[in-house]
Amino acid sequence: SRAERIAKVKKHFKTFPDWPKPGIMFRDMFPVFRSPEIVAEITSLFEEIVRETCSKVDVIVGLDARGFLFGPLLAQRLGTSFVPVRKRGKLPGPTIKETYVLEYGEDCFEMQEGSILPGENALIIDDLIATGGTMNAACSLVKKQQGNVVLCLVLIELVDLKGRDKVPAKLLSLVEYE
Ligand code: PRP
Ligand code: ADE
Repeated sequence: SRAERIAKVKKHFKTFPDWPKPGIMFRDMFPVFRSPEIVAEITSLFEEIVRETCSKVDVIVGLDARGFLFGPLLAQRLGTSFVPVRKRGKLPGPTIKETYVLEYGEDCFEMQEGSILPGENALIIDDLIATGGTMNAACSLVKKQQGNVVLCLVLIELVDLKGRDKVPAKLLSLVEYE
């Protein structure tokens, strides 16, 4: 069943208590990449969910940095393009910018101008949603280019942080932690 497949994926995450700061339970997803079968399973689960919930996706938008791992895999499966959102100062040429708040301080996300065309349907992908500030900024960047956010997709949702309340679009996650 799908629940069993997801439970098997979850076994490959590792939790680091009090990292990078006291009180944070860091959910490390990189161990999934030690197993090509698990990477394929994650990609298949994402593909199934997108085919069930979205009628048309034009472009997958991956978030710096861990969204770059899953975005291109899914774009290949779905036959869509992939474009990056990057942290400040990394993308050449004219960019669209959005500042967002993190637990301490702020950061800035950018996309290259014209990376989404007006009216295009965008799916935003990242590894994890915590407070939701990152996903919210990404939604703003798509909207500034007059794109539609048809789905926000993450591998891991930290549900107690209520990040989904900050996301102005449909959000689906594969694995939940309290
Ligand atoms: C992590 C994670 C998400 C974001 C979620 O990235 O990969 O992108 O935090 O946090 P939020 O929901 O509270 O905004 P991070 O900013 O640590 O950067 P990295 O991907 O470069 O490690
Ligand atoms: N990004 C923000 N919070 C995180 C957490 N607890 N684990 C992994 N990545 C994160």
